[in-house]
Amino acid sequence: MILGIGTDLANIDRIQGVLSRHGDRFRNRVFTETEQAKASRRKDEAGTYAKRWAAKEACSKALGTGLRMGIAWRDMSITNLSSGQPVMEIRGWAKNRLDEMTPSDHEAIVHVSLTDDHPWAQAYVVIEARPLA
Ligand SMILES: CC(C)(COP(=O)(O)OP(=O)(O)OC[C@H]1O[C@@H](n2cnc3c(N)ncnc32)[C@H](O)[C@@H]1OP(=O)(O)O)[C@@H](O)C(=O)NCCC(=O)NCCS
Repeated sequence: MILGIGTDLANIDRIQGVLSRHGDRFRNRVFTETEQAKASRRKDEAGTYAKRWAAKEACSKALGTGLRMGIAWRDMSITNLSSGQPVMEIRGWAKNRLDEMTPSDHEAIVHVSLTDDHPWAQAYVVIEARPLA
């Protein structure tokens, strides 16, 4: 069954502006070391961050909370499989919220899809509950 869906659109130029003004303070508040390492290796650093920003906003919507009520940005982070497919990792307060939403005899699977086409970056998140075998 589907427990939650969320979507978000982020403006890459706006993220570039925040990066220029706040630099590492912004990077460290919002993004994990893994996300920062990926973005710093890329030519399109702002686009890489904008997709991950959108993913965190979308995930907070799928959790039904938005970015209030205690979710920290870094509790939600994107890694990539070797195929390039993004994976959402959830910890801390967000993980507690996910556990509360998930029926006890189910496991939660968080699906995420990202795209960008300058100046926009977009994310979709779907949280599925799958019966435990
Ligand atoms: C996946 C693919 C359709 C992305 O299309 P695109 O127009 O280049 O890029 P978009 O802006 O729409 O999307 C980029 C996002 O797609 C996602 N993505 C990349 N590969 C993916 C895959 N195999 N499955 C699902 N999502 C994928 C990533 O989240 C990526 O953003 P990120 O790298 O910052 O996390 C395209 O790269 C493709 O067909 N790749 C083939 C697989 C491939 O070459 N893999 C290389 C390693 S084996």
